[in-house]
Amino acid sequence: MSDVGSFGHAGTGDAPDLSRRQLLNLLTFGAVSGVAVGALYPVARFFTPPKPQAGLGGVLARDELGNPINASGWLSAHPQGDRSLVQGLKGDPTYLIVTGDEAIGSYGINAICTHLGCVVPWYAAAGKFICPCHGSQYDDAGKVVRGPAPLSLELAHVEVVDDQVALTPWTETDFRDGSQPWWAR
Ligand code: FES
Repeated sequence: MSDVGSFGHAGTGDAPDLSRRQLLNLLTFGAVSGVAVGALYPVARFFTPPKPQAGLGGVLARDELGNPINASGWLSAHPQGDRSLVQGLKGDPTYLIVTGDEAIGSYGINAICTHLGCVVPWYAAAGKFICPCHGSQYDDAGKVVRGPAPLSLELAHVEVVDDQVALTPWTETDFRDGSQPWWAR
C-alpha cells in the first residue's frame, strides 16, 4: 500500500485542482484495489467518466478495466464484510460493501479523502478506512472518526437490477450523523 501514498499524496500546498486530483485518484485506483495490472494499466479509460445507463437511473459500477461488474460475479469473489473498489459516479473510486446476507449493500462509499483528496484504503483488520497521506480515519461506513479530514466520505446509492450494479447520487440526509450531505449542498 506504500505506493498509495506516493500517488495519492496531495502535497503540502494548496489542494490539487480537479483534473490533477482525478488523475491521482484514477492512477491510485488499481493500487488500492490490489490489481496487479502495473504498467499495462489502461489509464486512458479513466479519463472518460461512466455515462448514465438508460433504465437504471445512474451509472454502472465498473471494474479497474472499465467493464461493468455484475452482482453475482462480485459476490462470488468478495466475502461478507468486504469493501472493494469500483469506478463509481464521476469515475470516482467507490467502495461496494458486501453485507451480512451476502448481498451488495445499498450504499457505496466514495474513497476520496475529504482532507486533500487521497484515495483511502480499507483496513479490514482495523475495521476502518485509514488515509495514508495524513492519517485521517473513517469507520466502516465512511464516517470520519479522526482528522485532519473535516468531513465523512461521500455516499452513493447502490442498486442491483438484473445483476447489474448501478450507482446514483445520495442527496438525502446522511444516515451516519443526521446531517445534510456536504457533497449535495
Ligand atoms: Fe490528508 Fe487524507 S488527504 S488525511
